[in-house]
Amino acid sequence: MSTELQTEIAKAVENRRNFAIISHPDAGKTTLTEKLLLYGGAIHEAGAVKARRAQRKATSDWMAMEQQRGISITSTVLQFEYGNRQINLLDTPGHQDFSEDTYRTLAAADNAVMLIDAAKGLEPQTRKLFEVCKMRGIPIFTFINKLDRPGREPIELLDEIEQELGLQTYAVNYPIGMGDRFKGVYDRAEKQIHLFERSAHGSKEAQDTVIDLGDSQIENLLEQGLYHEFKSDLELIEGAGCELDLELVHAGKMTPVFFGSAMTNFGVELFLRYFLEYALKPSSHSSNLGNVEPTYPEFSGFVFKLQANMDPKHRDRVAFIRVCTGKFEKDMTVNHARTGKSVRLSRPQKLFAQERESIDEAYAGDVIGLNNPGVFAIGDTIYTGQKLEYEGIPYFSPELFATLRNPNPSKFKQFQKGVSELREEGAVQIMHYIDEAKRDPILAAVGQLQFEVVQFRLQNEYGVETILDMLGYSVARWVDGGWEALAKIDRMFNTTTVKDSMGRPVLLFRNEWNCNQLLQDHPNLKLSAIAPVF
Ligand code: G4P
Repeated sequence: MSTELQTEIAKAVENRRNFAIISHPDAGKTTLTEKLLLYGGAIHEAGAVKARRAQRKATSDWMAMEQQRGISITSTVLQFEYGNRQINLLDTPGHQDFSEDTYRTLAAADNAVMLIDAAKGLEPQTRKLFEVCKMRGIPIFTFINKLDRPGREPIELLDEIEQELGLQTYAVNYPIGMGDRFKGVYDRAEKQIHLFERSAHGSKEAQDTVIDLGDSQIENLLEQGLYHEFKSDLELIEGAGCELDLELVHAGKMTPVFFGSAMTNFGVELFLRYFLEYALKPSSHSSNLGNVEPTYPEFSGFVFKLQANMDPKHRDRVAFIRVCTGKFEKDMTVNHARTGKSVRLSRPQKLFAQERESIDEAYAGDVIGLNNPGVFAIGDTIYTGQKLEYEGIPYFSPELFATLRNPNPSKFKQFQKGVSELREEGAVQIMHYIDEAKRDPILAAVGQLQFEVVQFRLQNEYGVETILDMLGYSVARWVDGGWEALAKIDRMFNTTTVKDSMGRPVLLFRNEWNCNQLLQDHPNLKLSAIAPVF
């Protein structure tokens, strides 16, 4: 490999930062994304992301369902620049389209931004996504949003993160006032106060006045009492003596916290600036060759998401690849680790919202979309050079279960084929009863939409109409040690044993309480919410 190419790759890695936003619906993910793109110059007026979404709804016929539900089923990767950094924002599907894809996207992210509504604090979807980030040990940056509305006390929110997530917090900035009295944020590193001016819905970059902490003007600029309230809070957090420790941040043990208001643009640019300074650059991934650094000279990457029928004109499938090492070039031929075949990567795509733009090259930390005529499955590795296979992507605990029936015996073959292909694609998990007489597969999903997609696609692509019967379980746990370990357990109450698509035992429970009860009854039993990868 030429030193020129090596330098090019090293430079690309140095400049790239990749992250996903984890949040609960309504915390402001769309708004924050828009504002980040505004500062990144990728769009000129905030509102464009939502406008695109509306426009897309009008023109897209991918799935009548998408129109019926008025939601976006496809997730995207947004690329923009700020300073001299190339930023990749991996969009995590949320709302009703929350699905296993949301978790899988985190497998492709190097950093996570945890977005919290100041009035609500930690919410269920955020906690679940946090658990996946924790498992991967990725750095978590917290943005506490909607300070322009009355919310909970900043100190109380920091405390909640510490107590409930076990994450040390470090407030990088601190808010001055809240609700109608929200005036700006204090940047602790620079010891400067940023006072913002509100613009209509924050459609333009916010104007801010920057004043040093000790400046005598402050008391004139802030309404009575506000400065003193702020000072006493500041004394409290500074008195706690906690220092920002980037090693702890990069290990996912400490979270830098930012306060702001995405809607009015308060604190968004400050957040972006510090985030880029502190975030982890594309990192190494573990494989059969050990930990592979992003500067490894050969190209490699893994599939973290498959998407069918994104483009109604083509009715095709796209495999999203996280580039891990080397340089990707259009039309290159790579090896496919699972099948041992070689594959030519033609028609690569970079995605900006729904618009596809062809790309010629990509580096570690980037995501590319490849047309996938049934070649790729979730977790597959592609590479050049020496055989390389990354650790796969685990199955995540489903929370919704249903049996799927095919009422028409003449469609048996199509039904079997459809279910098996959709499983391979990762659209849904499939489990089976141990009792051979119960032959209908159990569909197991993280979000309701996954069921709808499966039924819709079975009908449209395989011509099979199906009936779905919901089951009353909400918790699935894999048994550590498999069937052997399970055989040592005598009587189990309030659980049903099924097997996953790899034949491993899975215990289904109606609720967490039943699961905890079983663990208490059988202290030697070890259960896991995430299936191990092989
Ligand atoms: P999501 O993608 O996380 O679901 O949230 P989204 O950005 O769509 O925001 C949810 C609602 O919260 C929106 O209001 C949005 O305007 C509002 N919001 C986001 N950030 C802030 C903020 O910093 N302050 C305040 N006060 N509100 C914020 P909506 O009424 O549902 O939509 P819209 O009519 O404003 O578009």
